[in-house]
Amino acid sequence: MHALVTGGAGFIGSHLTDALLSRGTAVTVIDNLSTGRTSRLPVGVDLRKVDITDTDAVTAVAEEVRPQVIFHLAAQIDVRASVEDPARDAAINIGGTINLLQAALAVGAKLVFASTGGALYGVRAPIPSDERVLPAPEAPYGTAKYGAEQYLGLFNRLHGTGHTALRLGNVYGPRQDPSGEAGVVAIFAGCAHRGQQPTIFGDGAQTRDYVYVGDVVAAFIAAAATERGGIWNIGTGRETSVLELIQHVGQAAGRAVDPVFAAARPGELQRSALDAGAARRDLGWTAATPIEEGIARVYTWVRDGQPEQGGL
Ligand SMILES: NC(=O)c1ccc[n+]([C@@H]2O[C@H](COP(=O)([O-])OP(=O)(O)OC[C@H]3O[C@@H](n4cnc5c(N)ncnc54)[C@H](O)[C@@H]3O)[C@@H](O)[C@H]2O)c1
Repeated sequence: MHALVTGGAGFIGSHLTDALLSRGTAVTVIDNLSTGRTSRLPVGVDLRKVDITDTDAVTAVAEEVRPQVIFHLAAQIDVRASVEDPARDAAINIGGTINLLQAALAVGAKLVFASTGGALYGVRAPIPSDERVLPAPEAPYGTAKYGAEQYLGLFNRLHGTGHTALRLGNVYGPRQDPSGEAGVVAIFAGCAHRGQQPTIFGDGAQTRDYVYVGDVVAAFIAAAATERGGIWNIGTGRETSVLELIQHVGQAAGRAVDPVFAAARPGELQRSALDAGAARRDLGWTAATPIEEGIARVYTWVRDGQPEQGGL
């Protein structure tokens, strides 16, 4: 078994790479190292410094290693950057995905794509949102992920492939860059460790579906194991507010964390949670890690100096 992991030097992709290697799967990583770091990868891993927008280079790697499965996680993940430069975001997140779909077709591989749930369903979605909710993204990032999903579904119809998109909640865990909205757990854990006051934008009542990275890795592996194509939400089904997160971080740190409040960020979604009932039924997957436990692991990771290896 040989897997190709795009974005394998990133936060989620490096944990997925570790999990695959520990199961005896050979792994080739494609990453342009824009936000990824080689230090997250085990020494000796087959890393190709390739940009996914480079059609020929992506195809050449796939034809050389002939993977059975392609885990496609490489992406432009910065929502604000997608608003500033939607064409660049689409070139990477749609154009790059089409390149991977073409490469998968050339070598007969199944592709599992990292899509988004949190940035997809929009402000009027019922909570928790299931996969039947019509996407209404609030930023080009979500629109591009939705567009990439559309191409994936098209390839399944046109070519009879069984590709899969996983709509991820707010993934958190060790190795996450403490920047941007997704890194809020790592940011709060860092503040708690240094005895600083974290800043909350708005009143802290805004909710997200925080799903632990180890559970997300398990979802990718479960999705690869089924022949069936489709789209599945990967989340806990539970809303956690920013204020609750702070409390959990305080418990992990063994001291109360006292935030400061700043003006709400314009356009920020107020509530989000994903119904992952379909993933439970079809993939046998559930989010197994309670949030208290996941946050405690992030705190330990921060306390230990944020090592790039291990950590799950
Ligand atoms: N972290 C979350 O909460 C979350 C939520 C929903 C979806 N996702 C998706 O999961 C995937 C992984 O996210 P992450 O949090 O690990 O982000 P990350 O930034 O840590 O990882 C992305 C990786 O892709 C690489 N990359 C970026 N552009 C590239 C390009 N043009 N060519 C080749 N490599 C490129 C980066 O160097 C990085 O290693 C992304 O597709 C993201 O959209 C993440």
